[in-house]
Amino acid sequence: GAGFDPVDPAVLRDPYPYYAWLLRHDPVHRGANGIWYVTRYDDVRTVLGEARFGRAGIRDFWASLVGPGPLSEVLRHTIFFQDDPDHERLRSLIGPAFTPRLIRRMGAEIEQTARDLLRPLRRRGEMDLVDDFAYPLALATISTLLGMPARDRDALRAWSVDIAPTLDLLASPEEIARGQAAMGQFAEYLTELIAERRRNPGDDLISAMIEATGGQRPITTNALIGTAVALVFAGHDTVTNQIGNGVLAFLRHPRQLELLRAEPDRLAGAVEECLRYDSSVQSNSRQISADLDLSGTKLPEGAFVVALAGAANRDPAQFTDPDRFDIRRSERPPMSFGAGMRFCLGALLARMELKAALGQLAGLAELRAAVPAGELVYRRSTMFRGVVSLPITFAATP
Ligand code: HEM
Repeated sequence: GAGFDPVDPAVLRDPYPYYAWLLRHDPVHRGANGIWYVTRYDDVRTVLGEARFGRAGIRDFWASLVGPGPLSEVLRHTIFFQDDPDHERLRSLIGPAFTPRLIRRMGAEIEQTARDLLRPLRRRGEMDLVDDFAYPLALATISTLLGMPARDRDALRAWSVDIAPTLDLLASPEEIARGQAAMGQFAEYLTELIAERRRNPGDDLISAMIEATGGQRPITTNALIGTAVALVFAGHDTVTNQIGNGVLAFLRHPRQLELLRAEPDRLAGAVEECLRYDSSVQSNSRQISADLDLSGTKLPEGAFVVALAGAANRDPAQFTDPDRFDIRRSERPPMSFGAGMRFCLGALLARMELKAALGQLAGLAELRAAVPAGELVYRRSTMFRGVVSLPITFAATP
């Protein structure tokens, strides 16, 4: 047949049996549309972490998909779409702006936000985990990080909802039109926010980047807009989806939830296992500019290569009994944050959010899913995996 196709509705619902087949029978697989799918842990690390596998071709492909307009004007300059030396230049701007002081402050804010969000929900005994808890936590975190006032969060949410679908190859013309309009407004908003931060620096990431590049060659507003947009899109749906995927794993494995409650020191291990077992980022794409050999398979110049982190996380060569959800594991780190030169710059922050969320939720007695598994709806995306909504119930407390 046409081979592996991540757009197949059955794959979107549950990709893991397909990954298991690929891992076993065809770990570097030529699938639908001639795209190469890579599944083994070591190979995925190579593809994600090395410069030979570039992003410029993906940028051009995507730019022609969305056409001219604010979307490509802003996004084509973001870190996700650069190869070296531009990639390294942006990375050395963004990375150091996550200062230890900022990270410490964010840690305290995240714990506080998670507690504040849960307080009114405790009395209800039910919530939609995604809308009522995970999304507001992730949105509050990213907007605090960027120094956006709390009153602007609803606008940020609305723009994100319209822009996010355009980042996927499944985007429809209507979605692209809505995304263009939203990106135009978002860029305008950021222009003002950045001007304000230039006048009045704060304790946030944008101020830190302005500060770090002061002196001879001050950073342009366009570069700051691109970076802010990149952080918003790298850093909030991913976290929201990961909280949902993690909680769902615990709901399906109640003994693991009991173990976490009995031994709260396992929280960090639990977060790693959630990331491994059902990663919110399933795949990342590259294009190669020269023939190369990947574990014995020859890939031709120009080939599109998709590294499936979701599969690497179930590679039996790395993880014993990989389909088992077990928070006591101490094997390799999950491939969910990528690798090497492009390893996720927000991994520390994401782990803090996941810990805060899981720590708070594990404290709810009688935690259960309020809908049967068959009714869960997944987001329509090949890259990002997460449920649209996750109704849960728990023992109400005054
Ligand atoms: C890159 C996953 C949260 C910022 C990446 C990459 C992955 C990833 C797989 C590499 C992409 C590639 O190789 O093409 C995740 C997951 C998250 C998460 C699973 C949540 C569970 C965050 C957060 C932030 C962030 C919260 C920021 C506050 C970034 C940035 C990059 C990146 C800036 C680009 C790094 C580069 O290209 O050098 N992330 N991420 N991420 N992530 Fe995250």
